[in-house]
Amino acid sequence: MNIIQVQDYEEMSEQGAEFLFQEITSGRSKVIGLATGGTPVGLYKHLIDKLKTNEVLLADVHTVNLDEYIGLSDDHPNSYHQYMFQNLFQFIDIPSANRHLPSGTATDFSEECRRYERLIQQLGGVDTQLLGIGANGHIAFNEPGSPFDGRTRVVDLAAETIEANSRYFAEGETVPSQAVTMGIGTIMESRRIVMIASGKEKAAAVKEMLTGEVTENCPATVLQKHGDVTLIADAEALSEIDVKNIQ
Ligand code: PGA
Repeated sequence: MNIIQVQDYEEMSEQGAEFLFQEITSGRSKVIGLATGGTPVGLYKHLIDKLKTNEVLLADVHTVNLDEYIGLSDDHPNSYHQYMFQNLFQFIDIPSANRHLPSGTATDFSEECRRYERLIQQLGGVDTQLLGIGANGHIAFNEPGSPFDGRTRVVDLAAETIEANSRYFAEGETVPSQAVTMGIGTIMESRRIVMIASGKEKAAAVKEMLTGEVTENCPATVLQKHGDVTLIADAEALSEIDVKNIQ
C-alpha cells in the first residue's frame, strides 16, 4: 500500500482532492466511486475549487456512491443523496444522469442491489474508488464480519456506527439502522483505491488495516490484498504505527 503521510485534516483534504483531480483530468478515471461521512467534506471543497479554476470536461465522468441509508428519501437532509448534492454535485458540472447512488426507498431492495451491481458493470467498473474507514474498521457500510466476497446488499449497521452517525441527526430523530452498501467484493474490483483517514479515533483501525491479520473481523484489512491502494492519512491517524517499517 502506498502511504502518503500528511500533517492534518486540511492537508489530507488537499492531497485527496489532488489525487482525484489528477485521475479525472488525465482521463485515467472516468468512473469515480465516492464516499460520504465527515472525512471527505474537506476533500470535496478542494475538488470543487480545482474543477472550477480549471477547464475540465466532466460530461462523460460518472460517479457511483458506496451506500445510502434505508428509509431516507433522496431529499431527506441526512440522506447521502443530499450529502452529495450539498457537498459536491451542486457546484460541479457532472450531469445529473451520471451521478449514481443506491436508493434508500426502493420497493424491492433485492432488485435495487442487483440494479446497482449491473450499473457498475455497465459503466465498465469503478476506475478510482474513494474510501473512508470506520473506527471499527468498516469500509462503506461493511461492518466487522462482512464477507470479503460480498456484493451490493442490505446490511444492519453496527451499534457504534449508528452512535457515530447520530451526530448528524436532530435530537429525537431516529438514526437509520440499515443501509444499502456496495459489498467488499464490489469495492475490491475497483482498479484503484484511495483511502483518506484523519484523527486519533481512526488510529487503531488504520494500524489494524496496515499491519493486522487479513480478516473479515476488520473489513479494511482486505485492502492488503488489493494491488493499487493509496492511503492519505494525517499524523493522528498514523500515530499508532511506524510508517517507515511498513513501506
Ligand atoms: P467518517 O466516516 O468520515 O464520518 O469518520 C468514515 C467511515 O465510516 O467510513
